[in-house]
Amino acid sequence: MTRHAMALGGAGLMLGISLLAVQAQDLTGELPDPPAFAAQSEPNFVSISDILEFKALPEYHEPAWVTSKYVDTGKLPPVAERLPKEPMVYKTANMPDGIGVYGDTMRHVIGGRPEGWNYIGGQSQGWGGIDIGLSECLTRTGPLFEVKADELEPMPNLAKSWEWSEDGHELTMHLIEGAKWSDGVPFNADDVMFYWNDNVMDTNVSPLNGATPETFGVGTTLEKVDDYTIKWTFKDAKPAQYLYAMAYGTFCPGPAHILKPQHPKYSSNTYEQYKNAFPPEYMDIPVMGAWVPVEYRPDDIIVMRRNPYYWKVDEAGNQLPYLNEMHYRLSTWADRDVQAVAGSGDFSNLEQAESFVEALKRSAEDSAPARLQFGARTIGYTLDMNLSANGWGEPDARATSVRELNRNLDFRKAISIAIDRQRLGESLVRGPFTAIYPGGLYAGTAYYDKASTVYYPYNLGAAKGLLDGLGLKDTDGNGIRNYPDGGSDVEITILADTAYGTNTNLAAGVIAMMEPLGLRVIANFQQGAASDDAQQAGQFDWEVRRQGSEMVSVVQGTAALAPTGPRTSYFHRAGSDGTVDLLPFEQEMVDTVNAFIATSDNAERTELMKKYQKLYTENVYSVGLTQYPGALIINKRFANIPEGAPIFMFNWAEDNIIRERVFVPEDKQGNYELHPETLPGAPGSDGVM
Ligand code: GLA
Repeated sequence: MTRHAMALGGAGLMLGISLLAVQAQDLTGELPDPPAFAAQSEPNFVSISDILEFKALPEYHEPAWVTSKYVDTGKLPPVAERLPKEPMVYKTANMPDGIGVYGDTMRHVIGGRPEGWNYIGGQSQGWGGIDIGLSECLTRTGPLFEVKADELEPMPNLAKSWEWSEDGHELTMHLIEGAKWSDGVPFNADDVMFYWNDNVMDTNVSPLNGATPETFGVGTTLEKVDDYTIKWTFKDAKPAQYLYAMAYGTFCPGPAHILKPQHPKYSSNTYEQYKNAFPPEYMDIPVMGAWVPVEYRPDDIIVMRRNPYYWKVDEAGNQLPYLNEMHYRLSTWADRDVQAVAGSGDFSNLEQAESFVEALKRSAEDSAPARLQFGARTIGYTLDMNLSANGWGEPDARATSVRELNRNLDFRKAISIAIDRQRLGESLVRGPFTAIYPGGLYAGTAYYDKASTVYYPYNLGAAKGLLDGLGLKDTDGNGIRNYPDGGSDVEITILADTAYGTNTNLAAGVIAMMEPLGLRVIANFQQGAASDDAQQAGQFDWEVRRQGSEMVSVVQGTAALAPTGPRTSYFHRAGSDGTVDLLPFEQEMVDTVNAFIATSDNAERTELMKKYQKLYTENVYSVGLTQYPGALIINKRFANIPEGAPIFMFNWAEDNIIRERVFVPEDKQGNYELHPETLPGAPGSDGVM
């Protein structure tokens, strides 16, 4: 058209430009509804008080071998003395298969590798449910998928109850009293205060899963009242929202009696030494979770045994967990699917769309060892563009130029409409799974509003026009656009995690779709922790990222919905001066998210999230790629798996299914325990007692 217009001379040229301008103004289109795909089971919705309570029971029990081999021989105090005054009691009526029996193992397979055991110091344990199982947090949210919507609030956990002051600025929490770490040392407010003062407030430390002071609100303070009471003070009145931040993964204290002596404030260690003070070979790190690591073989397996001090019981007084052992095979995420379907593994979150067809086929057979159940579309991917022009990640000249482009709306729009999302989704899997994802909250979730979602459909021609308009033209004829005024080729790197085929497949798709647009996008594919580290350090131009729970639930991880603090966003953080160079629409997003946090009025919250969705999608805050459902695969021998448990909502399924309550009926128990009839040894010892 441009050439034709030029042939018409001046008037034609003007007409051409004005047409282009009109086109540039309205690139929006009708967003197709996701293909129908019903979740295969629905939760039984209950109240939190139907699930659990805290109370003393007349008697307590444990596996018979624990009594005979450990209590009777004087190695352990009796179970009643190991439990807190009022343990957490899971109610039988909420247990799908009722009170369980002891024994057996859950054989997980994971694609990550442990950096070490210092979770609050920032080390990853390899994911796949390891850290979820080791960590107990002030509150708990994974199981909320089955809590009635109008009663939704975080469940008590290490904090067994709480109350707000009259003016709503103070929140007093009561910790579980008399509970012990897995080595028998009392858990109390000092553990909580060590986490807060020396790991969250000390910004030299970056706890895994990203807790920062702003995660709990600017200006928030926390103090110890007594051994079992802590008091929060907030700037806003009654920001109940922060109770979600007190769940996994941002308020799960570590064992102060072990970690504190290694912290730079109390030792001559550097922060790096503190972080790395508990390598994977260090066994029996004290935990509040149900199982303790007792064996580690690199690239092979992590084995955990039951925590003899675990502080949760069933209504008959049986100390939990029911399962004696946990395995984490150190393999690949794709192998997790394969093994779970084949029965050599027990559990998988089927989340890589490339595996769907094969997994579905194998699980449909009557003789299949595992059941596979699809949930809602809660897995979603974005192409994040680094929006920091303030030095975050110390970009060189090339990367600095890319950041300037990233901060330009026409540029982000051009990238967005150069991506054919239909084709991208189908390149992962055909069928009714993937849906076009314009970014923002996922279709089908509570706060999603289609009318507030701005969709810019695939339009390569218009994308080219937008880049032309920015003066990015191929001036040297090599097929790649150049920066204006004889500048160099526009070269952009794209970070993706090779631990997941889906991440690199999507990134490869983006790279291919940028080629006809005239942008050279270069793969920066890194494995697991290296990829996470590059992201955390801000060392990327673009990244393909599987999104967090904030996009599904909104109430979990809320602070990450926008750059609400210096380190709360995944792709826009503070530079060396500690400030974030917010774009005007980002400031509006931040204000909207903060207003959401400050109110608990549902109607107001709904309106605020409509506004958020509009700001996000209209401004292409991040480029949505695809969203699709995942399936929980679990071996058929396990009982007490809740109906309708999603693989990802407030948390991952490893939390959602309440593993400490899961059991295997006696006649179905396998012979999988590697350390039968043993318990964890002393911290830092070489395994079992
Ligand atoms: C990884 C896996 C998820 C889930 C989480 C748990 O991210 O990909 O399926 O197991 O770990 O932390």
